[in-house]
Amino acid sequence: MAAPKVFVTRALPENSLRLIQDFCSTEVWPSETPPSRAEMFTRTRGVEGLLSLLTDAVDAGLIAAAPALKVISNCAVGVDNVDLAAATSRKIPVGNTPDVLTGATADMAFALLLAAARRLVEGVAYVRAGKWRTWNLQLLLGADLEGATLGIIGFGRIGKAVAKRAQGFGLKVLFCDPSAQPEWGATPADLETLLREADFVSLHVPLTSDTAHLINADALGKMKSNAILVNTSRGPIIDHQALYEALRAGRIGAAALDVTEPEPLGVDSPLLQLDNCIVLPHLGSASKRTREQMAMLAAKNLLAGLRGERLPHCVNPEVYDGEG
Ligand code: GLV
Repeated sequence: MAAPKVFVTRALPENSLRLIQDFCSTEVWPSETPPSRAEMFTRTRGVEGLLSLLTDAVDAGLIAAAPALKVISNCAVGVDNVDLAAATSRKIPVGNTPDVLTGATADMAFALLLAAARRLVEGVAYVRAGKWRTWNLQLLLGADLEGATLGIIGFGRIGKAVAKRAQGFGLKVLFCDPSAQPEWGATPADLETLLREADFVSLHVPLTSDTAHLINADALGKMKSNAILVNTSRGPIIDHQALYEALRAGRIGAAALDVTEPEPLGVDSPLLQLDNCIVLPHLGSASKRTREQMAMLAAKNLLAGLRGERLPHCVNPEVYDGEG
């Protein structure tokens, strides 16, 4: 039997790529930057398997133009870059990489929370600029975590892992997620209560049509004037124009963003001019071990789909309805 053809949209760690290459005729996109839409079409047209990253739009047009496609394996937990309805209507299973990145992403949410609360980035800039003359009682005063309230919006795997970490810091935790049960000492709250009461707000919802711009001018207006907003989920959950205005006018205290809209955020973004805004280049899952585990899981999802087996992690399991 001929080896199935696959397109892998970026170089993967060696062991996961080898696993794919042992079984498949594999084309790997050679550049660090994503394939253009035209390249995606050209490379995906004849393949049975596609291994994509969150930067690659796997939309209805691309899926329709790939008649042999049997599996889409996205190397990310979020699948907002994949048109799930289009894949499901063709009975193409879509895989993702949950669990292995939960801890790393929750760590990043906490790193950002602490960095903004204790003004780490401003402190580093101050030292580098040669402004450090003496110990100063009033210099770069930040906010305490102990006894403060953290509001977690979206209480899935990562939201819960943030709540678990918050216990060690003595934070009170509210969460907003109608589909989740209380855990890790967190108390359920509706969105309005959470926004009004939280000193820190951390976002952990997937990007859908319901959550796009969930944090808009209205939501920002409900937050405390010293509140810190942390986003490690997806950029478009926040209306960036409204955020810029709220930060500039001091309507909220600070924001710490690992994700933005668009990505990459242009260097001319006004957010980058603000001292009370930290922006990272989407590093939530960026630890060596986590990225290796994500790539391995993505490789296993891809191979399972090519073999006609159930994917270890499938986001549209309804494609298996009717199977024994
Ligand atoms: C990262 O953002 C992911 O969805 O895995």
